Amino acid sequence: MKKVLVAGGAGYIGSHTCLALKNHGYEPVVLDNLSEGHEWLVQFGPFEHGDIGDSEFVGEVIAKHGIKDILFFAAFTYVGVSVTDPEPYFENNVSKMHDFLAVCKKTGIENFIFSSSCATYGNPITVPLTEDHPQNPVSTYGDTKLMGEKMLKWYGQAYGMKHVALRYFNACGASHIGTIGESHNIETHLIPIILKTLLGQRNHVSVFGTDYDTPDGTCIRDYIHVDDLANAHVKALEYLENGGESTQINLGTGTGYSVKEIINAVEQVTGHPVPVRFEERRAGDPPVLYANPQKSREVLGWIPTHSDLHNIIQSAWNWELKQSQTKV
Ligand code: UFG
Repeated sequence: MKKVLVAGGAGYIGSHTCLALKNHGYEPVVLDNLSEGHEWLVQFGPFEHGDIGDSEFVGEVIAKHGIKDILFFAAFTYVGVSVTDPEPYFENNVSKMHDFLAVCKKTGIENFIFSSSCATYGNPITVPLTEDHPQNPVSTYGDTKLMGEKMLKWYGQAYGMKHVALRYFNACGASHIGTIGESHNIETHLIPIILKTLLGQRNHVSVFGTDYDTPDGTCIRDYIHVDDLANAHVKALEYLENGGESTQINLGTGTGYSVKEIINAVEQVTGHPVPVRFEERRAGDPPVLYANPQKSREVLGWIPTHSDLHNIIQSAWNWELKQSQTKV
């Protein structure tokens, strides 16, 4: 089995990607400092506990496991927090990522799969978003991801390491295996917040903004099942291994749903009414984001198969129910 290094593999998308890697014949070695991730999410290969900014440690792990390929998830990802407190975002997502890249250069890493984001586009000029849409982030988080893409571009040109930057839209859902799912220390994402409200862990769902220029006034997003995202990483790695050139690819379905549509869908799937409060807009939220997924199909041959909205919500609901039972 070929070993690959998964930096940030103890997190939500990282752990699902480790499962997909294992299912495709790779051995995922997880490197994570557990600042956001959980050791119990490391289930599919060895665990190396440490920080991406610890160059000596990263070099040792790469040498020990004979690594040539990196999948890089290690980042802070709270859009709102990144605006009010940017320092840790630059430190972790830019400075430490650069330390990590310098070790990759030194150790001859060949392929690098990078978690980027549709947050790098900022407020869209046109939708659906294609990869050549201008990138003008409206959050620190989006800017740090754009800086990650730029570091990879210049490193690739100068030193030959190839990369695919995967620009995620809204990751959600949980694997059917039932042992991995979304578990953030601070939950800010819409679907888990709605489900936790139904479980009595919150009093209501705040809908941030009802005066957007959208059909029902609430924000529209492209919700993509985490298993589909995970499979796209395996395809991106195979693409580079087969001689593909460095590139940037959107990972979304191409369909957008408003906040109100998501709430209605949750009510249908679970059979429970959702207590809602309509509130002011949240800073840094573009009104409409959805992908043009054509490039992901053409370059990676990737077609989402788990991202039907009902399936996303059902899988997330199963996970939240299980989590709430284990916590009792
Ligand atoms: N929302 C609410 N109430 C909530 C939570 C969210 O109305 O309690 C709304 C938001 O305002 C937004 C939509 O639901 O309009 C989705 O919000 P999320 O927080 O679930 O997701 P975001 O779109 O803000 O962020 C996600 C990822 C980021 C990524 C971003 C790109 O978390 O990492 O998509 O848009 F950068």
